[in-house]
Amino acid sequence: MGNPIAHSRSPFIHKMFAGQTGQLMDYQAMLVDPTQFKQVLINLPSHGVRGANITLPFKEEAYKHATTTGQAATLAGAANTLSFSDNGEIRADNTDGKGLVQDLTHNLNIPISASRVLLVGAGGGARGVLGPLLDQGPEQLVIANRTEERAQQLALAFVKLGPVQFRSFDALKGMQFDLIINATSAGLSGLRAPLPDGIVSPSGACYDMIYGPGAEPFLNWAAQQGVNNRADGTGMLVEQAAESFTIWRGTRPDTRPVINALKRQT
Ligand code: ATR
Repeated sequence: MGNPIAHSRSPFIHKMFAGQTGQLMDYQAMLVDPTQFKQVLINLPSHGVRGANITLPFKEEAYKHATTTGQAATLAGAANTLSFSDNGEIRADNTDGKGLVQDLTHNLNIPISASRVLLVGAGGGARGVLGPLLDQGPEQLVIANRTEERAQQLALAFVKLGPVQFRSFDALKGMQFDLIINATSAGLSGLRAPLPDGIVSPSGACYDMIYGPGAEPFLNWAAQQGVNNRADGTGMLVEQAAESFTIWRGTRPDTRPVINALKRQT
C-alpha cells in the first residue's frame, strides 16, 4: 500500500519468493488515497488479506493503527509490514533496518561493528534504520542532516542505544568514516547532500538506500572521492522484503537470485 505505487518492485520480488518456496500467494500493489488509508486498512482482513507492506507516505499511520508492535517498529515509530490475525489483531513490524544490515554485512561484506558510520539524513528513512544499525555495535555513528535540528532530535531519541552524535554537513570537515549511508531523498530530485570532500577512509564504503537512478548523485560523488565499494539500495529492498515474507510465511527465501534478477532489469 502506498501513494505513488506504480514504481513498486515488491510484487515482482514476492512472486519470485513464493515461486522459490512453493508458497501460494497473491501479492498486489495497491494505490491508496491518503484520506482513505485507515478505512482501506481495516477492511483488508474481511477480503481475505493476511498481510501488507506499507510504503510512503503511510508508514507512520500504519504503525498508529496497529494493535501490537515489534521492537523495530516501536523504535522507528513506523511500520513497513503488517500482519492480520484471525482474532482481529494488526501487528506492525519494521524490516527496513534489518534489510539494510543484512545487505551490508551479509551480501556486501561491509562491517558495521566497530566501524565509524555516517548516516546522512534525519527523516523517516533514517529513523527506520537507526536502531538496527546501532545494534551492530559501530564505534561511532554520526547523523548529519541539512536541517541540523532534526539530526539533533534523532540523535537524542537514540542516544541510549549506542554512540550516536549529530553534525551539520560543514562540521563533518576533517572527520573520517568507514561507511557512509545516504538516507536522504535528495537523489530522487537528482540532487545530493553537500558533503565535504575527504571524509571517507580510502578503504571505506558508500551505500545509498535508494535503488536505481535516484542513487546516482550520491554514488557518483562517492566515485569522485575514490571509493570503490559503492552500492545502491537494491539489496536492502530485497532483504527487507525477505524479512516480511519470513514474518508472514515462516520460511526465509533465498535473496541472491532475486537481487540478481532486479539488477538485470535496471
Ligand atoms: P523519508 O521518509 O524518505 O526519509 P523525509 O522524512 O521527508 O522522507 O526526509 C527526507 C530526508 O532527505 C531529510 O533528511 C531531508 O533533509 P531535511 O530534514 O533538511 O529536509 C533530506 N533531503 C531531502 N532533499 C535534500 C537535499 N536536496 N539536500 C539534502 N538533504 C535533503
